[in-house]
Amino acid sequence: MVGKYATETILADAEGIARAAQILRDGGLVAVPTETVYGLAARADSDEAVARIYEAKGRPSFNPLIVHVHSVEQAARLAVIDQTARALMDRYWPGPLTLVLPRLPEAQIAAAVSAGLDTVALRMPDHPVMQALLSELDLPIAAPSANRSGFISPTNPDHVRASLDGRINAVIQAGACAAGVESTIVAVRADGAIDVLRPGPLDLGGPSLGHGIEAPGQLASHYAPGKPVRLNATEVAPDDFMIGFGAIGGDCSLSEGGDLNEAASRLYACLHEGARSEKARIAVAPIPETGIGIAINDRLRRAATPAD
Ligand code: TXA
Ligand code: MG
Repeated sequence: MVGKYATETILADAEGIARAAQILRDGGLVAVPTETVYGLAARADSDEAVARIYEAKGRPSFNPLIVHVHSVEQAARLAVIDQTARALMDRYWPGPLTLVLPRLPEAQIAAAVSAGLDTVALRMPDHPVMQALLSELDLPIAAPSANRSGFISPTNPDHVRASLDGRINAVIQAGACAAGVESTIVAVRADGAIDVLRPGPLDLGGPSLGHGIEAPGQLASHYAPGKPVRLNATEVAPDDFMIGFGAIGGDCSLSEGGDLNEAASRLYACLHEGARSEKARIAVAPIPETGIGIAINDRLRRAATPAD
C-alpha cells in the first residue's frame, strides 16, 4: 500500500452500506456510486471530514462541493427552495440535476463546502446504493467526483483506485455508472430565471454565457488524461489512440451505432484507456453537439485544453 490508508473494498449489499455509513459517520472518505460518476463522499456537516476531501483530491479550496440529499425535506433544511426550484426538484429528482440555491444561514454545512459563496449546490442522486446510504445516514453528504483534481472522472471502481488508492478509506464496488458524465448544474435566480452552469445528462439548454466562471470547477483545463488530445479527428496518426464514434472506428469506440447516451456512458472509460495506452496522443472523432452531446463536447474540450 502506498499512501495514508489501506483503501477498503466494500460490497454494495446491506452489510456494505452499513459499513460505508459507519466510516462516513466517523468522518472518513468513501467513494460511492451515483448514476453519473463515482463521488468521493464525506459528511457535509463536518469541517474535518470536508477538509479530507480537499486533501485527498488535491482540490483548490475555491472550488465548492455538491451536497447530496435523500429528500426534498432534507434539502429544505439547507437552502431556500422557491417555486422554480421546487418545480425542478419535482420534475427531475432523483436524477442528474444539481441546483445552486441560496444557502440558509442555519444550514448545518461546513463552510468549506460552499467555498465562501452564499449558495449551496444540492442534488438527489438516482442510484439505489447511494440512496440507501443517504437514507441510512440521514446526513447531507458532500461528494465531488472521485478523482484527483483536474484528472478524468471515474465511472467504475477501478478508475477510482487508479486515482485515489491509499488516499481514501474505502470504495463501494457497484459496477459502472449509467449516465457517465456529471450532473447538469443549474443556478436558480431570485427572479425565477435559471442559468445552466454545467451541461450534463439533462438537456436544459447550453451553458449560459456572460456569467464568467460561476461554477468555479468549470476551469478551461479539466478531465486531463495527461497527454495531448485532438478533437474532431477524422484520420488517425500512428501515435494516436483513436476514440471513435459511429462510422469512425478506433482503439475504443464511444458508440458504434452513433448513440449519444451510450457515448456519454463510455466517455471517461475510453479516456482512461487512452491515458493508460502506450500511444503518445489521443484523437477523438467528431461528436454531434446535440442533447447529451453538448455535455460530451464540453468535457472533451476541457480534456483537450492544456493546463497552464
Ligand atoms: O454528477 C455529479 O454532479 C457528481 C456526482 C458525484 O454527484 N459530482 C460532481 O462534483 O461532478 P464535482 O465536484 O466534480 O463538480 C462540482 C461542480 C464544480 O464545477 C463546482 O464548482 C460546482 O459544482 N459547484 C458546487 N457548488 C457550487 C455553488 N455553490 N455555486 C456554483 N457552483 C458550484
Ligand atoms: Mg469533478
